[in-house]
Amino acid sequence: MTKYLKITQKDLKEAAIGINEGKLVLFPTETVYGIGADGLNADAVDKIFKAKGRKTDNPLILHISNLDMVTQIAKDISELEWKLMNEFFPGPFTLILKKKDIVPSIVTGNLDTVGIRMPSNKVAHDLIELSNTPIAAPSANISGRPSGTNIKDIYKELDGKVDYMIDGGNTDIGLESTVVRVINDEIHILRPGAITKEALSKITPKVIVDQHVLKEISNNEEVLSPGMKYKHYAPETKCLLIYAKNNDDFINKVKELELQYPNLLCVCKTKNTSLFKRSIDMGNTNEEISKNIFSILRQVDNYDTDLVVIEGVEPIGLGLAIMNRLIRACSHNYLEI
Ligand code: TXA
Ligand code: MG
Repeated sequence: MTKYLKITQKDLKEAAIGINEGKLVLFPTETVYGIGADGLNADAVDKIFKAKGRKTDNPLILHISNLDMVTQIAKDISELEWKLMNEFFPGPFTLILKKKDIVPSIVTGNLDTVGIRMPSNKVAHDLIELSNTPIAAPSANISGRPSGTNIKDIYKELDGKVDYMIDGGNTDIGLESTVVRVINDEIHILRPGAITKEALSKITPKVIVDQHVLKEISNNEEVLSPGMKYKHYAPETKCLLIYAKNNDDFINKVKELELQYPNLLCVCKTKNTSLFKRSIDMGNTNEEISKNIFSILRQVDNYDTDLVVIEGVEPIGLGLAIMNRLIRACSHNYLEI
């Protein structure tokens, strides 16, 4: 049975006791909700993989509430890595570091590295602080589904699978954290997020966006982050992502497709919604789109439609993170015009 909690100190204390007893706690962060367990307790972490139906070679991020926790779980930290943590913690930023033996191998999918993130969300911060242990937490969703950004979207999917759910309302950002690894003093972005390439470039000009961020992975290809291999966010309905530099080209293409698919559903920017027969408003700015998109991807299967067209955005700044998620949601069914 899942117990529903609010964000009062009393409820957070109860959740923290749950973490210390090896239970699963669903909690909000500024990016998406997470399914948390004591990151130093292998049995507790194992329950996360079972609850999500997640492959055990896909490692989890450890969430911390202060920098002292970093040296408890990671070693051989370079000057550049400290600089990144000082700049971007707390916030939507995950750094991959060499792990210490105290971190159970189930957390890291047997890798010798561990992803570390310090959330800025107060509920997440307080939960970690009260538990006094790093909390292992993947996004709150059954594997393959869009990440949960509010309790309403995910309670059916995860009810009964976790011990506690803490309702902290809608998450601020809506997309998961930027995942970064430093290799030979170069910053590699393994998963783009709200800490953008442009922001990272202020720390060092050597920032590389991993080639798999927007590209499909072919069989047996080596990847720096196991999560890149797995199917993500895709609705059941066929989806096509269209990015046009010129808005008129986008409108014309969708109108042409409407002739072929009379029940077409278009997920598009606010300014375009009235132009098509059926549409869902995803917002106008990248911030609005990032906040709304996972919830929208969960809705599209409720419509009777043979094709969902999703409007792409320019892949710079936060737009790169949006396109990374949308390309996966559309199973790489992508048209650039
Ligand atoms: O915003 C977020 O990061 C959210 C919230 C809950 O903090 N968490 C999240 O976790 O998105 P998850 O497990 O859904 O995604 C973590 C990603 C996966 O793609 C995983 O493969 C990668 O980070 N990752 C974790 N540890 C890694 C490691 N040691 N090396 C390479 N990639 C790693
Ligand atoms: Mg996830």
